[in-house]
Amino acid sequence: MEKRICILAGDGIGPEVTSEAVRVLDAVAEKFGHTFSYEHIDIGGCSIDKYGVPITDENMGRCKAADAVLLGAVGGPKWDLCPADIRPEKALLAVRKELGLFANLRPTKLFQELASASPLKPEVIGCGIDLMIVRELTGGIYFGKRSTVERDGELVASDVMEYSEHEIERIGRVAFETARRRNRRLASVDKANVLDTSRLWREVMHRLAAEYPDVSYTDILVDNCAMQLIRNPAQFDVIVTENMFGDILSDEASMLTGSIGMMPSASLSADGPGMYEPIHGSAPDIAGQDIANPLGTILSASMMLRYSFGMGTEADAVETAVSAVLNAGYRTGDIMQEGCTRVSCSKMGELVSEML
Ligand code: IPM
Ligand code: MG
Repeated sequence: MEKRICILAGDGIGPEVTSEAVRVLDAVAEKFGHTFSYEHIDIGGCSIDKYGVPITDENMGRCKAADAVLLGAVGGPKWDLCPADIRPEKALLAVRKELGLFANLRPTKLFQELASASPLKPEVIGCGIDLMIVRELTGGIYFGKRSTVERDGELVASDVMEYSEHEIERIGRVAFETARRRNRRLASVDKANVLDTSRLWREVMHRLAAEYPDVSYTDILVDNCAMQLIRNPAQFDVIVTENMFGDILSDEASMLTGSIGMMPSASLSADGPGMYEPIHGSAPDIAGQDIANPLGTILSASMMLRYSFGMGTEADAVETAVSAVLNAGYRTGDIMQEGCTRVSCSKMGELVSEML
């Protein structure tokens, strides 16, 4: 197959980790006889520096026309004082919205080799952690009306959280279908004891649950879910939740596996190209030192193979190669353990490619 991939390396460690994912994609192409071509596109701070905006319309058009998009990370202290509408993060939200990427899949899987890197006790981890967070990505408080106005001599800010039935239903369907392909358990996270958006969320999810009698469905309040993730993560299979709750819970869940540097994600639309990115940020403190963990981005590339290109065998091969490299004792600094060999970001990418 021939595929055109837009590479949005971005800021901080973004360029380092995406280069390693491209190296792995090239190895996949060679092994399985595919042709991947890449178009490098500026996004975030580097685009602000060059063009004055976090992504240009032309570059947005290129992303829409690609077969898939691979993103590193955006942002950094250099651009923290930019006005709200040209902040680096704005580009990320704009790409999500423009490409209609409403479904964000964030798998949280503990590689057995890294069990001791998890902050949880072995008896809590039990037989492992393998859950999938399905986060709604183009609605809710991230995209509602916002304002800061002066009232009675002080500033008053507001962010509106809004969900319509169709937005809830389409993410709900993705979650139920995902549960069907896994262990058929779905927990829907909300704050229905307080929020109207959550009460509507729950109503729509219950309607769907009736259509999927083979999936065992539960409601869980977000505060309880945050607690249960630490207390007994093995109870979860698929978790579905709205945009901001999903942002918070996915960072929490990622830590259960030892390092946020390991976690990939896929953002999917109804039909167009998907975007794939590690869930970690730009980590400006370690940028340019070749010490970042590229595995989250490499595993994101593997999700791209699986979800956008239908290359399940190739995706499995990448995941097996990652496991094999960990099994052989190679670690980046963030997951370093006694008795292991510490390697750089580029060396890690090289090892995974060779293993393929
Ligand atoms: C994420 C990030 C983004 C988000 C930021 C960078 C806007 O934290 O993908 O989880 O909040 O969605
Ligand atoms: Mg986040």
